[in-house]
Amino acid sequence: MAPTGPALLLVLGFLVVISHDLDLVFARNFNQDFDITWGGSKVKILDDGQLLELFLDKDSGSGFQSKAEYLFGKINMQIKLVPGNSAGTVTSYYLSSEGSNWDEIDFEFLGNLSGDPYTLHTNVITQGKRDREQQFRLWFDPTLDFHTYSILWNPQTIIFYVDGSPVREFKNMESSGVLFPKKQTMRIHSSLWNADDWATRGGRVKTDWRQAPFTASFRKFDADEACVWVAGSSSCGGVNSTWIREKLGAAGLKRMRWVQKSYMIYNYCTDTKRFPKGLPPECSLTTASI
Ligand SMILES: *[C@@H]1O[C@H](CO)[C@@H](O)[C@H](O)[C@H]1NC(C)=O
Ligand SMILES: *[C@@H]1O[C@H](CO)[C@@H](O)[C@H](O)[C@H]1NC(C)=O
Repeated sequence: MAPTGPALLLVLGFLVVISHDLDLVFARNFNQDFDITWGGSKVKILDDGQLLELFLDKDSGSGFQSKAEYLFGKINMQIKLVPGNSAGTVTSYYLSSEGSNWDEIDFEFLGNLSGDPYTLHTNVITQGKRDREQQFRLWFDPTLDFHTYSILWNPQTIIFYVDGSPVREFKNMESSGVLFPKKQTMRIHSSLWNADDWATRGGRVKTDWRQAPFTASFRKFDADEACVWVAGSSSCGGVNSTWIREKLGAAGLKRMRWVQKSYMIYNYCTDTKRFPKGLPPECSLTTASI
């Protein structure tokens, strides 16, 4: 006999309690997984470690970084960006190693006046070599809700995703002499800072401090598919995970090309004025150029 009335409610109640507990067991926790690196009290961790808020005011911005170091991974973060007049502010979320020959995989969100669009700014830095920016508009208002920004980093490729759509790929082109990050471990970093000398309309629109404090929110960090590096060895030792071999399939490539065609607003690979002596070598080798 199927449970009815109160019995059914009881069963459903148990299910809710159990699934809630599982959620807590498996969810990452900002308190456990991250260190506050900047701004102290301007980083607020709420909801038992499930939500993190960064604040920026005239005195300083704020930031955090992962305790763990990774060598390859698929890393997701949900972010809700500074609402309203966010001109001059930059929210960044990136993977980075240390030292002067560092590697970095960058998402930066450049704020704007109320009603004007954010710019998604991306970069890939290999052993200190920068100058690989691509910028995009988003197809939604990133301040109204949380959206998922992901980085896939494996020995073959780096792919940036927005809500599951690939927007940029940087392939391993070492065979053609282009450096690729694969030896230095990286931490996940995030910060909210004032960059009104360049961020909005090239620095012409300044941060309006009357709107301070500015806030960006983070949740559902997920690095379950990532290789944690501890004491010289990788948690992925014998693991043959699919993501470590993952590439953009035909459908992913088609989607990425569509996103780039519709939403890309800057591509270093087409900026011949900036590189009068010739575009960087990867530009003729990959999907970096459109
Ligand atoms: C801000 O809005 C203006 C006007 O739409 C646009 O030109 C600019 O690219 C936007 N983003 C930034 C970061 O300046
Ligand atoms: C690892 O992946 C390859 C390619 O899919 C497969 O042929 C091989 O059997 C896998 N090895 C293990 C230990 O799962």
